[in-house]
Amino acid sequence: MAHKINIYKTQNSRLAEFDPHNIGFGKIFTDHMFVADYDGKNWTDLRIEPYSQIQLSPATSALHYGQAIFEGMKAFSASGEVWLFRPKENWKRLNTSAKRMVMPELPEDIFMQGLTALVDIDRQWVPGTDGSSLYIRPFMFATDEHVGVRPSEKYKFIIFCCPVGPYYNNPLRVKVEEHYSRSAPGGTGFAKCSGNYGGSLFATKKAQEEGFDQVLWTDPVTHEFVEETGTTNFFAVIGKNIVTPDLSENLLAGITRDSAIKLLNHMGYEVEERPLSILELKKEFHNGNLKELFITGTAATLINLVGFGHNHHFFDVMAQGDTSISSSLKSLLDGIRYGQSEDVFGWMQKVEQELGEPA
Ligand code: COI
Repeated sequence: MAHKINIYKTQNSRLAEFDPHNIGFGKIFTDHMFVADYDGKNWTDLRIEPYSQIQLSPATSALHYGQAIFEGMKAFSASGEVWLFRPKENWKRLNTSAKRMVMPELPEDIFMQGLTALVDIDRQWVPGTDGSSLYIRPFMFATDEHVGVRPSEKYKFIIFCCPVGPYYNNPLRVKVEEHYSRSAPGGTGFAKCSGNYGGSLFATKKAQEEGFDQVLWTDPVTHEFVEETGTTNFFAVIGKNIVTPDLSENLLAGITRDSAIKLLNHMGYEVEERPLSILELKKEFHNGNLKELFITGTAATLINLVGFGHNHHFFDVMAQGDTSISSSLKSLLDGIRYGQSEDVFGWMQKVEQELGEPA
């Protein structure tokens, strides 16, 4: 169904100030945003308006009780056109998160029409420089002005965009976390809800104070099995096998993780999705079989790990391994996203030009 989206174009574009050679990550915002309001029954007042501050009551329910979910996705510039990468997967995951957080689901056509109209209108912001993209942040939060723990009746859904470069610039050193937990059985680990990220910061800060870049979360019961890093999913190349922790209610089902598995299969590799213990990683490291560690995520794309720290010992996998499988995988993934390799799975969706000026 085609929805009426009111378009309020900015009179003060900031595009001329945008330097595509100096973008960083998440600090520059495009000219517009898509907004929809849930009134307790329906999504209403669909609009694209200038990116701006939003006014909230101090009693806004999301600020107190955490009904807030989000997605991360990307658009790419290739052959003079703008392309979204697997956008429907983000729509599906948004609604998985919404269900878990007792929030209203967003119909596919509102998500897709709002998204494509926004990326179209701001298409000139999609950077064409090497390794860059347009990071897209859809999110939903509870807007009832109410003190009391219960699901909100009203919600706001917004999509805004940032031109971005790489999220991580160099291979990471991760600390195996054995005390703190990111998620728990029956918890919200599989949902992309804001609280999961807020709750991860303390352990991450401690790891960073010890010289690591990130935490490698382990299962919350035994702390023996790898889960994810909190911003990414984890892969290990052990001998000729590629292993990634199997999905459980504790892990976020990364769209880049899924893409990596499909591409590795396409490249002729088997990927084992199964429990992966720290003990196994250490044993294979000592046997010289732990060849590559890498992580995947929308923001991060794919980046190698230097190694992992466990029990005051650092296992420097890069020093004794190589990065051949992860490098080939990243080249293929980038090739598809930047239009240089065949889109074997039909993942790229062209954003038709209707509202914005040509890029
Ligand atoms: C993403 O990868 O899109 C995320 O939401 C994680 C965050 C590190 C930006």
